[in-house]
Amino acid sequence: MLNFPKINYIGNKEKIAEWIVSFFPSDTKSVFDAFAGGSSVGFEAKKKGFQVISNDILKINYCIAKSLIENCDQKLTQEDISIIFEGTPKEGFMTEHYTEVFFFKNECMELDLYRENIEKLENEYKKSIAFALMRRAMIRKMPYSRFNLDWNTIKQLRDEEYSYEKYKRKRAYHNESFKTHFLENIMEYNNAIFDNKEQNIALNDDVFNLLPKIHADIIYLDPPYTGTMNNYFGFYGLIDEYIFSKKIPPFKNNFLEKKQAIKLFYSLFTHLQNFKYWIMSYNNASFPKKNQFLTLFEKLSTNIQIIEIPHIYKVTGKENKQANTEILFVIENTNFKPKETLFYEQSNV
Ligand SMILES: C[S@@+](CC[C@H](N)C(=O)[O-])C[C@H]1O[C@@H](n2cnc3c(N)ncnc32)[C@H](O)[C@@H]1O
Repeated sequence: MLNFPKINYIGNKEKIAEWIVSFFPSDTKSVFDAFAGGSSVGFEAKKKGFQVISNDILKINYCIAKSLIENCDQKLTQEDISIIFEGTPKEGFMTEHYTEVFFFKNECMELDLYRENIEKLENEYKKSIAFALMRRAMIRKMPYSRFNLDWNTIKQLRDEEYSYEKYKRKRAYHNESFKTHFLENIMEYNNAIFDNKEQNIALNDDVFNLLPKIHADIIYLDPPYTGTMNNYFGFYGLIDEYIFSKKIPPFKNNFLEKKQAIKLFYSLFTHLQNFKYWIMSYNNASFPKKNQFLTLFEKLSTNIQIIEIPHIYKVTGKENKQANTEILFVIENTNFKPKETLFYEQSNV
C-alpha cells in the first residue's frame, strides 16, 4: 500500500487527489502537473501509472517532487542520517538572518549545521529527500505551519502553558527538535518512494516559461486561488532561502492581485496548445468566478465539463475551517494537433 507522506501543504489536494485523477480521460498516459505544490496530485497520478512531469516555482516544492515523483529508488539510509546530523551546531545564514525572527538562536544554528551536512549526501535525490524532511520538521515547529507570522506571535504560540490555557492544547511538537521530527517522518517518506516504470520528471520554473516546451496528454492546473490566502512565497519562501542560503525576492507571476490574475489566466489559457486535455481545480470562493472562466473556455473549446464537490480547507486549525465547493473543469482542447515529438524537450528546459 503506497501512502502519501505527511507534507502539510497549504491548499493541497491530498483528500481529493484520487477523485481528481479519476477524471483523467482514458486515452491519456501523461500529465503535466504545472502548479505541483506538495505533489499530492502528481503522486496519485504516478500511482495510477501516468508519466508525470511536475513543476513548481518554489525550490522546496521541486525537492518534494524530485523525491517522490521523479525519484524511483533512492532512499535515505542510516548512514545518510548520521551524515546529516553529525557535528556541532554553528552560525550561518539562518542564524544571521532568522534568529528570533522564526526560530531561537540554537535552532537556527542547528539548521545551519544540517544545511551544510545535506550537501555531503551523495546525490540530488538524497539531498531532495533531506530537504523535504527538514521542511516537514521546520513546519512542525512553526505555529500555523507557515512562515509569515511575527516573532512575538510565534513565541507566544510556542509557549506551552499559554497555548494550553488559551486553546486547551499544549502543542508540544513546536518545541521538539528538528531531528526528532525528521526521524519521526523518515520511514513514511522512504516508503513513499517507488518506481512506476515511467520517466517522471521534476521541474522548477515559472509555468509561463515552460508551457511552450512541455508536451503531455493532460495539463493539470491548480493555481493559487486569487482572493483567498494564497501568498505561497510568504508561506514557504523562507525554506527556499534556507536551501539557497541567501535572501531571495518573491516570485512575480503569483496570482495575488485580481488584475494581474486576469492577465495571467488569459495568458495561461491561450498557451495550452501542447496538451489534449486541460484539467483545472478551482473553488467557488476564488476570483475569477466560475462563469468568467466559462466565458473564456467557451472561446477555446467546444467540449467542457464542470464537476463540483464540497471540500473543506483547513486554514489555521479546527477553529477556522472553511467549507468551499471544489470545482474541476475538464476541457478537451478541440483544436489539438498531436505532434510527433518528445513529451519533454529536455535541451530547452
Ligand atoms: C494551490 S497550490 C498547488 C497545490 C497542489 N496541487 C497540492 O496538492 O499540494 C499552487 C502552487 O502554485 C505555485 N505557483 C504559483 N505561481 C506559480 C508560477 N508562476 N509558476 C509555477 N508555479 C507557481 C505555488 O508555489 C503553489 O505551490
